[in-house]
Amino acid sequence: MEASVTVATTAKAAELRRQGEDVIAMSAGEPDVDTPENIKRAGVAAIEAGHTKYTSPASGLIELKEAICRKLDRDNGLSYEPGQIVITCGAKQVIFDAIAALINPGDEAILPAPLYVSYADQVKLMGGVPVIIQTDPADRFCLNVDQLEAAITERSKLIIFNSPSNPTGEIYPAERWQSIADVLAETGIHVITDEIYEKFIYDGEHASIATKNERLLERTLVVNGFSKAYAMTGWRVGYGAGPSEWMSHIAKIQSQETTNTCTISQHAAIEALEGPQDSITGMRALFQARRDLIASRLDALPGVSCPAPAGAFYVFPDVRELISDTKIEDDVYLCGYLLDEAKIAAVPGAGFGTPGYVRFSYTLADDRLEEAIRRVEDAIGKLR
Ligand SMILES: Cc1ncc(COP(=O)(O)O)c(C=O)c1O
Repeated sequence: MEASVTVATTAKAAELRRQGEDVIAMSAGEPDVDTPENIKRAGVAAIEAGHTKYTSPASGLIELKEAICRKLDRDNGLSYEPGQIVITCGAKQVIFDAIAALINPGDEAILPAPLYVSYADQVKLMGGVPVIIQTDPADRFCLNVDQLEAAITERSKLIIFNSPSNPTGEIYPAERWQSIADVLAETGIHVITDEIYEKFIYDGEHASIATKNERLLERTLVVNGFSKAYAMTGWRVGYGAGPSEWMSHIAKIQSQETTNTCTISQHAAIEALEGPQDSITGMRALFQARRDLIASRLDALPGVSCPAPAGAFYVFPDVRELISDTKIEDDVYLCGYLLDEAKIAAVPGAGFGTPGYVRFSYTLADDRLEEAIRRVEDAIGKLR
């Protein structure tokens, strides 16, 4: 397996900054805003109240599981019991534990690309085989039924979806989910639907494949978390909701692995779900304005195509024409050039299984975003 490209790029940018370079990191997958005050206060209150021990049960505080069930019902129209929820150290852990519970050596996991690469590496770590399917940019990077049917073999065990998507920012429309769910329901394939960017949609609405087919729901794990919607990346809380048997294996793996995620963070997460939600509305408006700005400016660059994505907080411009028209060899080389020349850290599309693209995260304060865009414009201008 490979190390996470985004984590590695962000670490490299941080190292250059320590050496005194004015690097702007457009590589991190996290909101730049602080965790909302009410959530921070709930964390402090949890410490003061002595909630500083292991969580019992290890799979998560019952009060948080109940709050998650209410959230899934309210926002997604999904009905779960607290016993079907496992709370983990971020969404990343529940995805990993779900893969560990399911995948045996040689089992295939169908992964539409561009993809959050941890999916592929976690599958490989369990001896599974990632079957990466390139989706069409003209179809907003959504898998279609023909591609799905062509990818299914008797070894197919799992498929992982991510909408809104990291890195493309695109979302699956409800009708596409329906056609995909109907095909998958006829197979034995399990589904992980990673909905961690659910709250960041600027055009269209969030839809979950989990609502589309009752039979498929029995093999579907819904993944979500607090990192993005509540700007809580460092608190490390994520969760999965799914069929009892799969969840019991996930809980067992977590109990032998990390025991539980931070008890204090779990108390803060209850406040996140049950307290005021206006911080999300504020972040969404802020990010939408930034998306509009960066997408239009990058799209205006020669050799770069950057339609505004529907959601998340990334743009994923197509730089294939720029590569073919200049001495830049590929997207990896281009990101190296941007780091050297413009002190901009961005992640090559190859890191998401789709070369020829670059992912820029736009969670930067307005003046830094403006400065970053200007530097990218200048650096790309010099290539001509
Ligand atoms: C698609 C996707 N899933 C999961 C995660 C992991 O989030 P967490 O911080 O909850 O582990 C990320 C983080 O970047 C992500 O982009």
